[in-house]
Amino acid sequence: MCGIVGYCGPRRVVPVVLEGLRRLEYRGYDSAGIVYLENGKLIKHRSEGKLSNLEMIIDSAIIAPAHIGLGHTRWATHGAPTTNNAHPHSDCSGDLVVVHNGIIENYHSLREELKSKGHRFSSETDTEVLAHLIEEYLEDDLVSAVKEAVGRVEGSYAIGVLWTGLPDTLIAVRNQSPLVLGTSTEQGTFLASDIPALLPYTNEVVFLDDMELAVLKADSFKVYSLISGSLLDKEVKTINWNAGMAEKGGFKHFMLKEIFEQPQAITNTVSGRINLESGSVELPEVNFGKEDIGRIDRIFLVACGTSWHAALVAKYWIEKFAHIPVDVDIASEFRYRHLLVNDRVLTVSISQSGETADTLAGIRLARKLGSKVITICNVVGSTMTREADGTVYTHAGPEIGVASTKAFISQLAALFLFTLFLAQKKRTISPEKSRELGKALIDIATVVEQELPRIQADIVKLIDNFYDCRDFLFVGRGLSFPIALEGALKLKEISYIHAEGYASGELKHGPIALIDKEMPILALVPQDDVYQKSLSNVEEIKARQGRLILIGTEGDSHLRKLTEDVIYLPKVPDEMNPILYTIPAQLLAYEIASKRGCDVDQPRNLAKSVTVE
Ligand code: M6R
Repeated sequence: MCGIVGYCGPRRVVPVVLEGLRRLEYRGYDSAGIVYLENGKLIKHRSEGKLSNLEMIIDSAIIAPAHIGLGHTRWATHGAPTTNNAHPHSDCSGDLVVVHNGIIENYHSLREELKSKGHRFSSETDTEVLAHLIEEYLEDDLVSAVKEAVGRVEGSYAIGVLWTGLPDTLIAVRNQSPLVLGTSTEQGTFLASDIPALLPYTNEVVFLDDMELAVLKADSFKVYSLISGSLLDKEVKTINWNAGMAEKGGFKHFMLKEIFEQPQAITNTVSGRINLESGSVELPEVNFGKEDIGRIDRIFLVACGTSWHAALVAKYWIEKFAHIPVDVDIASEFRYRHLLVNDRVLTVSISQSGETADTLAGIRLARKLGSKVITICNVVGSTMTREADGTVYTHAGPEIGVASTKAFISQLAALFLFTLFLAQKKRTISPEKSRELGKALIDIATVVEQELPRIQADIVKLIDNFYDCRDFLFVGRGLSFPIALEGALKLKEISYIHAEGYASGELKHGPIALIDKEMPILALVPQDDVYQKSLSNVEEIKARQGRLILIGTEGDSHLRKLTEDVIYLPKVPDEMNPILYTIPAQLLAYEIASKRGCDVDQPRNLAKSVTVE
């Protein structure tokens, strides 16, 4: 999705904004632009494509002695990704500029109205309407004009405004699209769509809520409610991420770095939450007591994409250990179906970003229907964590690659903790079993750490025969089924190879028709409780000459008889297989995409944080 960066302060604005935009590149975009105020004039540069194109055309502006400005990376919604449609957008006079994330739903009627009043439009975007609308209301009070303009607008927006008439001030407004301020006595005041843009300068941040307007100056900021008009006392939060965490650190891609950070992500998510002597799991931020659990007779897990796959794994765990029926929903479906949700239902949202529009809408709906809401989330202070009744933070650190890897693994770790927490509160598992499972979760971080380099080497050896194929199937049963879905998603999103994940038992209900000697199939066959069944499915594939890659348990010599391409993984407790078996699937996708020369960290058409519906 689009990215906004704004700055006013003692530094030169152009490098600050460019660095901020670079750190938001992971969000996905197809054009970029920057504006700054120099000698009373707004200087604007925009370009199609990557930020490097913009950098090329503004080479000399880097040293401009300007100290206030805005930048934007645009992910096209209304109008093609051209220079003309890139932000910032100006009013008729050219003295006022706007950058915007989100969608103005009533832009068409506003545009017609403004045109009839003589406003001249130069782009196809919905955003340009905002610039002209503010101009329409502007006399000498920018804040009032912005308020009046956003009062006319329907939709979601995060906006930044700069006007030559108020040369030391940026205005920002948020409604259903994330926006965060950064504040530092020495460095100035910052505005961004996400925290990584701020990390080189400050980790003191203020999250704007919906319908809030911020006035930013170099040495201060004020936040007002657009509903009551009153000045708000906003909390300044300290983020314990640093700028280095959002850098590649010697790896070729963020995705690879993040795959290798997974052992640490598991440890960080688990540490301090399990007492290995008593077996008890403590999740104080969940705000969920024994009485709450007593009332719950069903759980809805709501998420999108990779986070939805984590939910699918959690269903198996929660039903097995906490004995609570679990429904798993894709958020965009959940929010539009007839929901049988009430106060006996617990809704759990799972989201790396905490800003995904559909998931957010889903939990708002569930709350309205009386459900308690808990979120499993990676971003401290994100909208979901502020709206939920409780949060289980994953501690994966900033995830920059669009393909979710360490966030997924830490979601699995957090969901396993949550399962144990529920099971303990419901007394559906013994303290001994809790200890055993808690230890298995802690130990899996070490197993992953030890195995990662060897798994990568094994994958690199086999991809020569697979990297240029057109299609791929991933299959697994039980706890391995969601991992098959995840493997297929990883491969398709970063390598653009068509890939599908299936429950192995489903093959003969349709997909088996696809299998011939050209079709690669990665099958997950750990020696778990459904091993024999999985093996029968693999035999069916073999009988049809499918090109098998098998991921199975060390010492399982039978697998070698079925194919040369076997990746062996150590035997771990069955419940931990989803974590371990995800690693080769991620690495297969990564190595194939990398060999195909794909833009691994920023795949085409994708955005890291999907803040529009
Ligand atoms: O931030 P979220 O976890 O809510 O994001 C949900 C999906 O957009 C996300 O998991 C997406 O599927 C991944 N980028 C895929 O790797």
